[in-house]
Amino acid sequence: MAKPKVFVTRVIPEKGLALVRDFCDADIWQDELPPPHAEIVRRVRDVDSLLSLLTDKIDAEVMDAAPRLKVISNMAVGVDNVDVAAATARRLPVGNTPGVLTDATADHAFALLMSAARRIVEAEKFLRAGKWKTWSPQLLLGADFVGATLGIIGFGRIGQAVAKRAQGFDMRVIYYDPIAQPAFGASPVDLEPLLRESDFVSVHVPLTPETRHFINADTLSKMKSNAILVNTSRGPVLNQTDLYNALKSGQIFAAALDVTEPEPLPLDSPLLELDNCIIVPHIASASKHTRDMMAFMSAQNLIAGLKGEWLPNCVNPQVYKTSM
Ligand code: DGY
Repeated sequence: MAKPKVFVTRVIPEKGLALVRDFCDADIWQDELPPPHAEIVRRVRDVDSLLSLLTDKIDAEVMDAAPRLKVISNMAVGVDNVDVAAATARRLPVGNTPGVLTDATADHAFALLMSAARRIVEAEKFLRAGKWKTWSPQLLLGADFVGATLGIIGFGRIGQAVAKRAQGFDMRVIYYDPIAQPAFGASPVDLEPLLRESDFVSVHVPLTPETRHFINADTLSKMKSNAILVNTSRGPVLNQTDLYNALKSGQIFAAALDVTEPEPLPLDSPLLELDNCIIVPHIASASKHTRDMMAFMSAQNLIAGLKGEWLPNCVNPQVYKTSM
């Protein structure tokens, strides 16, 4: 019997790819860069399934170009690149990869927070530029952690894992999340007190129409002048022009971003002129084990969808209801 067909939009780790190849006749995009949208539309014409990445826009046009499509499996926890409403309307289950990247992402958020607080990147540049003349009592002074307040916006799995790490640093942790229960010694607060009281603000919300540019001139103006902002969620959650102004004017002390708008960030972005802004290329989940597990989970979702079974991790389970 012929195997079901899949278009895989990039070479993912072998741990997932091996599973996909066993079960499917796989068309795997080999380039380092993602397939252009028109190419995705062209390649899905006769596929039964699609394994996509967060760099691929999977919209109604893609879905309508694929009359045999049974499942979309996205190798990410975030699914803002997929038009989930359009998939649901077509009764297409959409899979994602929650849980396996929680620790790596929280570790990375903490690494960024510490790097910004202790000015690690700036200090390294200083040394390489030959500016280190002597130990100096006031050289590159940064922030302390013990007793400082960490405000977490979005207290899901990753936000909670960041709180857990902050406990080890004897920080006071508060969070803003209208639905999450307290955990790891963190207390729920409204947004305004969080912004007003936090020495560190770490953002962990999904990108939705409600969270787009959630961090903006208004929210930044309520933060402390010593505040350090960390974003490992999605770039568009933050208004970069407003952030630039806040960093440049000293309204907040520093920022550390794993994600930008757009990605990659153009090299002429004004943010890159600032010493108090660390920017890395969306690598929060980039540990070997984490990426293996993300690939494996996305293969599992894909195969379940092809078998007509519930996806182990499905963002639109309403597609399984008899009436929607
Ligand atoms: C995700 O899975 O959404 C992450 O952004 C990948 O790093």
